[in-house]
Amino acid sequence: MVKPVNFWDRFAHRYAARPIKDVEAYEAMLAAAAGWLKPTDRVLEIGCGTGSIAIRLAPFAGSWTATDFSAEMLRIAAAKPAPDNLTFVLADARSAFDGGPFDAICAFQVLHLVEDLPDLLSRIHANLKRDGLLIARTWCFADMGLPLRGLFLALRALGLFPPAKALTTTALLQAIGDAGFEIADERVFGQNPDGPFIVAQKRPAG
Ligand SMILES: C[S@@+](CC[C@H](N)C(=O)[O-])C[C@H]1O[C@@H](n2cnc3c(N)ncnc32)[C@H](O)[C@@H]1O
Repeated sequence: MVKPVNFWDRFAHRYAARPIKDVEAYEAMLAAAAGWLKPTDRVLEIGCGTGSIAIRLAPFAGSWTATDFSAEMLRIAAAKPAPDNLTFVLADARSAFDGGPFDAICAFQVLHLVEDLPDLLSRIHANLKRDGLLIARTWCFADMGLPLRGLFLALRALGLFPPAKALTTTALLQAIGDAGFEIADERVFGQNPDGPFIVAQKRPAG
């Protein structure tokens, strides 16, 4: 079995070369995420990949630390022109929180990939400031129709897809709530209902 980090190192160049399928939906999601940010915010991103979203959103924040556990993904990211307030750091999502607490933590297309989602969500919660935000988009494979799920299983068997959790949107929202967040926004951009965009605010303890 290929380790997830090795999968992403191997897959990095193909990932970087993939065109965005629905540009309008992508732009709408970026605009929605930017709308939640303040110019003074210290933002952490986990699973930043080749940095495309970080490069677009960092100008809306005070500082942006974009992390990923794949050195190859980050090598591609670091070669792109980027705003001055953006830093790329090699880190597994579980231990990416140096420099916290943060005003916002972003996770685009990564929460379904981690081994222990409740554990990661509670680390995210612990490393946010009071009223801090989790901003995420997540594939929810268990919401997909059988043919698509079958296709992903086949791709995974061929080593062309990483190990991923079969989340439903309902289970994801529940897990986020259980970790101590209030859902502030939940939307779908474009035609794909299986990749919800979620903004969740840290509930004060007690
Ligand atoms: C589907 S890509 C998404 C990349 C980027 N966020 C985007 O939306 O274009 C998933 C990324 O998460 C990273 N990743 C997966 N599991 C991770 C983990 N446990 N810790 C850190 N990064 C992880 C992979 O290396 C990959 O770059």
